[in-house]
Amino acid sequence: MNLKDLYLDFFESKGHKRIPSAPVVPENDPSVLFNTAGMQPLIPYLMGQPHPYGKRLCSVQKCMRTVDLDEVGDKTHHTFFEMLGNWSLGDYFKTESIEWSFEFLTKVLKIPTKRLAVTVFAGNELLPFDQETHDKWLSLGISEDRIAPTKDDNFWIAGEVGPCGTDSEIFYFRSDDEIPDKFDPEDDRWVEIWNNVFMQYNKTIDNKLTDLPNKNVDTGMGVERVVAILEGVNDNYLSSIWKDVIDKICEISNLSYEGNEYSMRIVADHIRTAVFIASDPSGIKPSNTDQGYILRRLIRRAIRHAKQLNIDINSNWEEEIAKIIIDKYKKYYTELDENASVALNVLKDEKNKFSRTLEKGLREFEKVSRNNKDIDATDAFHLYDTYGFPIELTEELAKEKGLKVDIEGFKIKFKEHQELSRTASAGKFKGGLAGNSEIETKYHTATHLLNAALKIVVGPDTHQRGSNITSERMRFDFNCDHKLTDEEKNRVEELVNKWIDERLDVTVTKMKKEDALKSGAECMFIEKYPDIVTVYSIGDISKELCGGPHVKNTSELGHFKIKKEEASSAGIRRIKAILQ
Ligand code: SER
Repeated sequence: MNLKDLYLDFFESKGHKRIPSAPVVPENDPSVLFNTAGMQPLIPYLMGQPHPYGKRLCSVQKCMRTVDLDEVGDKTHHTFFEMLGNWSLGDYFKTESIEWSFEFLTKVLKIPTKRLAVTVFAGNELLPFDQETHDKWLSLGISEDRIAPTKDDNFWIAGEVGPCGTDSEIFYFRSDDEIPDKFDPEDDRWVEIWNNVFMQYNKTIDNKLTDLPNKNVDTGMGVERVVAILEGVNDNYLSSIWKDVIDKICEISNLSYEGNEYSMRIVADHIRTAVFIASDPSGIKPSNTDQGYILRRLIRRAIRHAKQLNIDINSNWEEEIAKIIIDKYKKYYTELDENASVALNVLKDEKNKFSRTLEKGLREFEKVSRNNKDIDATDAFHLYDTYGFPIELTEELAKEKGLKVDIEGFKIKFKEHQELSRTASAGKFKGGLAGNSEIETKYHTATHLLNAALKIVVGPDTHQRGSNITSERMRFDFNCDHKLTDEEKNRVEELVNKWIDERLDVTVTKMKKEDALKSGAECMFIEKYPDIVTVYSIGDISKELCGGPHVKNTSELGHFKIKKEEASSAGIRRIKAILQ
């Protein structure tokens, strides 16, 4: 039995309901491109909204931390990973959470207690030492020397604001050396395997901690790392998770893993991540902005490293690898199977595009870097613009020759060409979470009104295809085969403002998914919702499956104004609008 099944079965036996993984691209969260933790889709529920599945939940969630993209190639980094998690939403707290973590590790996984150590929150100017957690670990047989109080690493929050709390990290001694009595969290033979976060606070923008309505538990365990540990390999890519993928790359390239680890890990990791993004219900395609740009970078970097491995990049190598990944994961993520041909086509199209210019681009790179010359902005931009080299690829090539790239100069040129990717802006990949600020909540509600108005003005088959909210504006993508006329835009604005003036109540109900659909409720990714769903209604003009949050009455919204209407992709239009 594998780790994922053992974990989910164990927590189901403790009364937890298993929830499906949310899409890897968050639906209503402007602060991150991808889900970075299992708790991210649960933020509204950690903030106090009742979850349709109840108070005890567990899942295996698709996660990505693209900040690590260029680190991939070593033994431990991945861009995509799976996170196991169990949650209490105002149900059990520290005692059960710690007891069950300990029971799972020592009884189910049969890890000897002597290989375990923990950290607990040491206390700071705001919060006291976490005595309760300390005492609980002690009572379970973790010795005093193996409980390390630390300050900075024992408070967990995704980003800057939102649900948060003190935590207790569990470490495993991953070495054949004699295990020291005293646990030192800085000693890298001790590896963190699981985090138990006691989420009872909400951190607001002015840096204050207020009590959440409930005391919650949020735990997270990275599958790749723990499997490698359990299997006793010190290179994650040698664990059973990767073996068949690496074997396939060896077969295609006719090379052995030893001596070619770096490029093989990059090909394995990046193709896996690309498959997960391309088959996500969000329908991301390679592009020069946001998630699409990450997808493009992943595929292009994988192609370049496949070439390093002497793989004929025009053969079906990427498809052969992708098929192994789809087969391996489809049991947990049905979208991999359902969207398999979409994902395979995305890989193939992007490969065909890039393979046409890669060779010439590499020759151009050799030319401009001759005599060990650093890459200036003009050359970097030329490589990007003419040969499709993501700037990070040029940087990687330069680094391999010990050269530098004028990134700042490149960005200026990029801006000059009016297509500065928002992904290049600092901080976008650092993780974070949906701001549930007042203004963003208003934009959520305005999104539903806009959706309803478009159905009236453009036609009943108009549906939401994406949405993104910041505190400054809302963005809404929808299917439509033409540019909206001024008259259509005016009508949409008038309708939304009329509904705001009518002071319509926003109400929320729970119902069976099938009943919600029968009643005509709107929803974007039906397969991603549990059997019992929350449905938000606005007067009788809008009804949508949604996790919220929303305002209570449309009168809170102010005045709605469309700032821009433009093409997003084929058959998809995009509206940017504000509330004044
Ligand atoms: N949210 C915590 C983490 O990501 C525990 O799940 O580590």
